[in-house]
Amino acid sequence: MCANETQIESLMQEERLFRPSRKDQMKAHVKSMKEYKAYYKESMEDPEGFWARRAEELITWNKKWRKVLRWDFNDPKIEWFIGGKLNVSYNCLDRHLENGRRNKAALIWQGEPEEDVKVYTYQMLHTEVCRFANVLKKLGVKKGDRVSIYLPMIPELPIAMLACARIGAPHSIVFAGFSASSLESRIQDCKAKVLITADAVLRSGRTIPLKPNADQALKNCPTVEKCVVVKRAGNEINMEEGRDLWWHELMADESIKDTCEPEIMDAEDMLFILYTSGSTGKPKGVIHTTGGYLTYAAHTTQWVFDLKDDDVYWCTADIGWITGHTYIVYGPLALGGTSLMFEGVPTWPAPDRFWKIVEKFKVNIFYTAPTVIRALMREGVEWTQKHDLSTLRILGSVGEPINPEAWMWYHENIGKGKLPIVDTWWQTETGGILIAPLPYATPLKPGSATLPLPGVDAAIVRSDGTPAKKNEGGYLVVKRPWPGMLRGVFGDPERFKKQYFDRFPGMYESGDGARRDEDGYFWIMGRLDDVINVSGHRLGTAEIESALVSHPSVAEAAVVGMPHPVKGQTIYAYVTLKAGLEESDDLRAELRNHVRKIIGPIASPEYIQFAVGLPKTRSGKIMRRILRKIVAGETEDFGDTSTLADPSVIEDLIKGNKELTGNK
Ligand code: WTA
Repeated sequence: MCANETQIESLMQEERLFRPSRKDQMKAHVKSMKEYKAYYKESMEDPEGFWARRAEELITWNKKWRKVLRWDFNDPKIEWFIGGKLNVSYNCLDRHLENGRRNKAALIWQGEPEEDVKVYTYQMLHTEVCRFANVLKKLGVKKGDRVSIYLPMIPELPIAMLACARIGAPHSIVFAGFSASSLESRIQDCKAKVLITADAVLRSGRTIPLKPNADQALKNCPTVEKCVVVKRAGNEINMEEGRDLWWHELMADESIKDTCEPEIMDAEDMLFILYTSGSTGKPKGVIHTTGGYLTYAAHTTQWVFDLKDDDVYWCTADIGWITGHTYIVYGPLALGGTSLMFEGVPTWPAPDRFWKIVEKFKVNIFYTAPTVIRALMREGVEWTQKHDLSTLRILGSVGEPINPEAWMWYHENIGKGKLPIVDTWWQTETGGILIAPLPYATPLKPGSATLPLPGVDAAIVRSDGTPAKKNEGGYLVVKRPWPGMLRGVFGDPERFKKQYFDRFPGMYESGDGARRDEDGYFWIMGRLDDVINVSGHRLGTAEIESALVSHPSVAEAAVVGMPHPVKGQTIYAYVTLKAGLEESDDLRAELRNHVRKIIGPIASPEYIQFAVGLPKTRSGKIMRRILRKIVAGETEDFGDTSTLADPSVIEDLIKGNKELTGNK
């Protein structure tokens, strides 16, 4: 990808432009480019004034802040709304009981079986959250104690989150597709006191046991005193005497009250920890706090999705990822919106699953990922034509760059050539969307996340920190804080500094490459570090390599992303075996299974190439650049290979790759 040391090449060119319709602009939260530009200007000239106004408009504070912002990216330390007091669950629930939304649907849940539907009004959700908050208190959870949550997409998940927020106990959600050992390391890292899990996950018509993973993990998690188990599937499970308790039994207890006073939190108290992959081994526990995060979640939901009171809003993500945290739960509920939550997959029982749900609930705003669009594109347009999609007004995309073909397909077949697509660029660390169009203001270019939101000082720099020129690829950075940004890496301040603030002093480094075109539009080129983006999910290559190397047959492993038509990238592993061991398909299958067990199914390599040796520098570093080129079939020019210790390995690697993949 690198043309020389400081530049990054970008080849994508896209000329099409789509303008918002005049008619829709009138009712929008941000009505025109003129308005956007005015907000942007204000937010750069008087950031504190801009954010103070938004925080006041969007959030109910128990006590107003003394100072809007204090920051130092060199330390690094970032504080927003200093001295401000609030409770996040109060903002997402209680205040809506008073403002006319008491009987409005807060959450609509569509389970995987068609008939499994539940609707929670704000009042009902409030009661459930209060009851569970009381349950947590009874189990000994206090303000500041961490609670790990390992649940499928069922209503108990947002209920548990909001209950944690209510009593001031930071939650740490672990995606239910992760393995026992991933769960274990995350619980150990945050030293959770309680784990909340379920008997099983329902997925593609199957019942996938979940509790055995929790049991396995808890063997090595001495901090966990109690494990609360939701009965989802009714499969037979082990309940450990004295430790495991059924959710429904705890909630049925008559001494549990329907109300629970919200704990008044400081704006900078921790709301949650969410683990995400970085370029070195262990996942990082990204810390988000209450005041800034909630302000930012509500602000972006209102402007980017133009969420209004009578909308049915559906974000298809799993709550186990940041997208679900911010755009299924905290953002929409803070605004008093109706958020739809779905358990299942887009292609089961048939590839019209999503469109059927859009028709069934008359969805207005629909937010999904490019990998979903590409998967559905393959199934053919007939599936989209079986349903009435006319209620939709805004489409969204997140997780990875959306290719212009997929954008056009989405626009034409789901948006019927009319609807705006908001391609939203952001990260676990950013808490909310940073770069995206405003649906009724920004002219769209397929494949571009367009412009930074007001308050976001995004830029592209070269590796020496100097600004990149127009259309020159470089490092995507942000030059000042925004309220939703991470405040730290749990238990590891060094890593916080090193990962995000060291390379470019005074700037936040996103780890993504991008270029900016002549209109100032951002074109995201993907990760520059050793992180693979599979179906919109970040996976650290180092983690997958460690998993492979932990198998007794493996001597060394190097993992890279291989371009993939549906998943964006797929995992390609080069493996050298210990002396005397035979390569075989059985061993490949065993290695895949091994990674699956250690990290989870999403991390299992699609390709495993057995190699005699890996390309290394004389100092012993694996030259991943070469490995990436081989899997991409770009074997013409490897750039500078003068530091390579043994150039002859390359020929063998190319040959092996051709045999395995049919790369020409
Ligand atoms: C990628 C998900 C291009 C990017 C919210 C980023 C995107 C990583 C986009 C964060 C987009 C996310 N266009 N790339 N619209 N959205 N990405 O932490 O590489 O799971 O750094 O957060 O996804 O992934 P994460």
